[in-house]
Amino acid sequence: MSEHVTIDKLAEHVGQEVTVKGWLYNRTDKGRLQFLLLRDGTGLVQGVAFKKELSPEAFEAARSITQESSLIATGTVRADERAPGGYELSLSDLQIVQLAQDYPIAPKEHGIDFLMERRHLWLRSTQQWATLRVRATVIRAIRDWLDDHGFVLVDAPILTPAACEGTTTLFETDYFGDKAYLTQSGQLYNEAAIAAFGRTYCFGPTFRAEKSKTRRHLTEFWMVEPEMAYADLDECMRVEEAFVSYIVGRTLEERAEELAILERDTTPLEGIAPPFPRISYDEALMILEEAGESLPWGEDFGAPHETAIAARFDQPVFVHRYPTRCKAFYMEVDPQNPELSLSVDLLAPEGYGEIIGGGQRTADLELLERRIVEHNLPREAFEWYLDLRRYGAVPHAGFGLGVERTVAWICGLHHIRQTIPFPRTLGRIYP
Ligand code: 4AD
Ligand code: MG
Repeated sequence: MSEHVTIDKLAEHVGQEVTVKGWLYNRTDKGRLQFLLLRDGTGLVQGVAFKKELSPEAFEAARSITQESSLIATGTVRADERAPGGYELSLSDLQIVQLAQDYPIAPKEHGIDFLMERRHLWLRSTQQWATLRVRATVIRAIRDWLDDHGFVLVDAPILTPAACEGTTTLFETDYFGDKAYLTQSGQLYNEAAIAAFGRTYCFGPTFRAEKSKTRRHLTEFWMVEPEMAYADLDECMRVEEAFVSYIVGRTLEERAEELAILERDTTPLEGIAPPFPRISYDEALMILEEAGESLPWGEDFGAPHETAIAARFDQPVFVHRYPTRCKAFYMEVDPQNPELSLSVDLLAPEGYGEIIGGGQRTADLELLERRIVEHNLPREAFEWYLDLRRYGAVPHAGFGLGVERTVAWICGLHHIRQTIPFPRTLGRIYP
C-alpha cells in the first residue's frame, strides 16, 4: 500500500500514488466509470474508478459501495480545477472496510427534527462539518488571545451550591442528600481567582433550564468568562472589542473554505474592528421607539429589540448601564444614578443578538449583602463570596461570551442548535 495521506494534504502529492482512508460521501454511476466522492474528516476528494485500471474485485467494490461505507482507496493524485477541492484521485485500488446499509440521511433535503434525531450521523454532512470546524477555530482563538494577554486559566466548578444568574433557570440535582445546581456561570469563582492571579478566565459548559424555545437558547452551552482585578466598565469594553475582533479575524483567516461551504457572505465580518460603538440603555430605548419596538423603561430586551438596535450599526454594539432591576445581583451601581448598573451587553450585528454579557461587579460588602436579600438568595451559600469583599476588595469587571451565539454569527446561521456537536434544548436530550 502506498503512503497514507489525508485529503487536506493531497496538494503536496500531485503525481504520486497515495492511500486515503475514509468514507464514501456520494457516488455517481457511469457504468465503466465510477465517480466516488470520498471524505476522511479533513476534506472531500473525488476518486475516479475506471474499469480497466482496477482489478475486477476492486472495480466491483467501486461499483457496489454504498453511501457512508468505510473504505481504503489508493490512487494517483491529479490536479483538476473542476474537481471539488481542486484535486482528483485516479483510483488503482479500493477496499471496503465496512459496507453501510441504507444510510438514512440521503443527499437531499430533510426536516430539522429528522436530522436532529440523527445528529450522530448528521455531523458527517458537509455543512455540519464546516460549522464545527469553525467552532473549533473560534475556541482556539479565544484561548490564544486570553493566554497571550495575561489571563490565567482557572477552571470553575460545574456542580455548585448556589445560583449566579437568577434562580429561575437552575438545574437542580441531588448531592448526597443536599441540593446542588449545575453551574450557570463561573463568574463568582473567577472573582475569587482574580485576587490570586490578577486576570483570569474560565471556559466550560454552562447550564440554564431555559423554558422557552428560541433560536438563541440552549440548555447546555459553552461560555468563556474573563475576569479582571482593578478594571472598570470602560476597560471591560476595551478588552471585549479587542477580543471579539481577534476571534473574527482569526476565523476568517483560517476557515475561509468552511465559511464558503456555509455560503456566508464574509464582507460584513471583514470590517469588524475596534472601537465598537457604545450606547447607553436609555439611548437604546430611543432607538427602539423610533424603530416601532418601544419598551417600558426598566425591562430587559428580547430578541426583536436586540435585532432592532443592532440594525443601526455595522459593528457589534455595546449597550451599557442597564437598570439595576433587570440585571443580576452582583452588578456595581452607577455612581451618577443609583437606578443604573455598570453592566454592558455586546450585541452582534445582522440580528444575531447578545453574544456577551458582563460589566463591573460591586466591590461593596453592604450593598452585596442587601442585594442577596433583595434577590431572595440563600445567604449561607454566598458566605465565601462575601469574603471576597472582606479581604482586599478591589474594583473589578469581567464578562461572559457565549461560544454558540458567536459561532452562529460568524457562520451566518439562523439557529444556534447547529453550532454545538450535540445540542441540548427544551425538547431534546437525544442523542
Ligand atoms: O449574559 P449572561 O447570562 O452573563 C453571565 O452569565 C455572566 N455571569 C457572565 C460574566 O460576566 N462572567 O451570559 C453570557 C453569554 C450571553 O451573552 C450569551 O452569549 C450566552 O452567554 N448565553 C447563552 N447561549 C446559549 N444559550 C443560552 N441559554 C444562553 N444564555 C446565555
Ligand atoms: Mg445576558
